[in-house]
Amino acid sequence: MKILVLGANGQLGFELMRAAWAPGTELVGLPYPAFDVTRPGDVEAAVAAHAPALLVNATAHTAVDKAESEVDLSFAINRDGPGAMAAACASRGIPFIHVSTDYVFDGTKDGIYTEDDPINPIGVYGASKAAGEAAVRTATPRHVILRTSWVYSAYGNNFVKTMLRLGQEREEMRVVADQHGSPTAAADLAAAIVQIAAAIETTGSTAWGTYHLTGSGYTTWHGFAEQIFRRLEERTGKRPRLSAIGTADYPTPARRPANSRLDCSRARERLGVSCPPWQDSLDRVIDELFTNPPQA
Ligand SMILES: NC(=O)c1ccc[n+]([C@@H]2O[C@H](COP(=O)([O-])OP(=O)(O)OC[C@H]3O[C@@H](n4cnc5c(N)ncnc54)[C@H](OP(=O)(O)O)[C@@H]3O)[C@@H](O)[C@H]2O)c1
Repeated sequence: MKILVLGANGQLGFELMRAAWAPGTELVGLPYPAFDVTRPGDVEAAVAAHAPALLVNATAHTAVDKAESEVDLSFAINRDGPGAMAAACASRGIPFIHVSTDYVFDGTKDGIYTEDDPINPIGVYGASKAAGEAAVRTATPRHVILRTSWVYSAYGNNFVKTMLRLGQEREEMRVVADQHGSPTAAADLAAAIVQIAAAIETTGSTAWGTYHLTGSGYTTWHGFAEQIFRRLEERTGKRPRLSAIGTADYPTPARRPANSRLDCSRARERLGVSCPPWQDSLDRVIDELFTNPPQA
């Protein structure tokens, strides 16, 4: 099976390129900027040139705060890009796997979000990703959209790497304790996509639709940081004092949902995929960072 990954040098793209695919899989990854989803014709040219049996979109504009002032670029990458990919797939009968976000929700639900809950993004990033989901659904029924959250990897820039760095530099850290969600290792997402691809290859189909897929269990950014600092102390003997602050104490250009806990049972039941407990995956990534960090 030939699989084309667009955005091969993001966190998810990197993990997809080194994931354990079925023997015989031909994996082609196009990194940014060699492939630029905003460049007219790039999507169509990539799909036509490589003629994959499955397309996976790992491109995104993920800078949540910058998105507030880069509205057009966010929508070009997060809405028009996946829309064009889905259209290129539809005309050739290619299945399409796309990734979306917990930030399509406003965070006001008193409980855990299911796929049936109404979306209501409160920032440009979430709005552009929600529009991307809609564009994909309109263009092709043969899609799997995986909404995930709080993604990190040993590769790229993310909360885990920032906390490990600052935790060694500073005596004290203040981290937001009133936003609830699930950390997700990009490697776990990639492994789930490998599994979905295998099912598509075997049966020619899958349970198309929109799913939630995150690390198992819920925490806050503060709880996430606490676990990172526990591991940091074991490795280095350094551990900053960690204090809990509220969202109001840490103003950012973009508003973020206070609750973005996603119920992942539908993906488990219909696609047979799930992610390990978030703490276990965090341990694996921290191990990699201390023993054999990837370049860049
Ligand atoms: N990161 C999170 O916390 C998070 C949370 C929820 C959902 N998600 C979703 O999960 C998916 C994977 O995210 P990720 O964490 O892997 O994101 P990422 O590390 O930011 O990767 C996105 C990739 O897209 C590339 N890109 C930027 N502009 C592009 C363009 N014009 N054309 C083509 N590629 C372009 C980026 O290149 P540069 O790095 O060079 O800009 C980067 O390689 C995305 O759909 C994201 O929305 C992420």
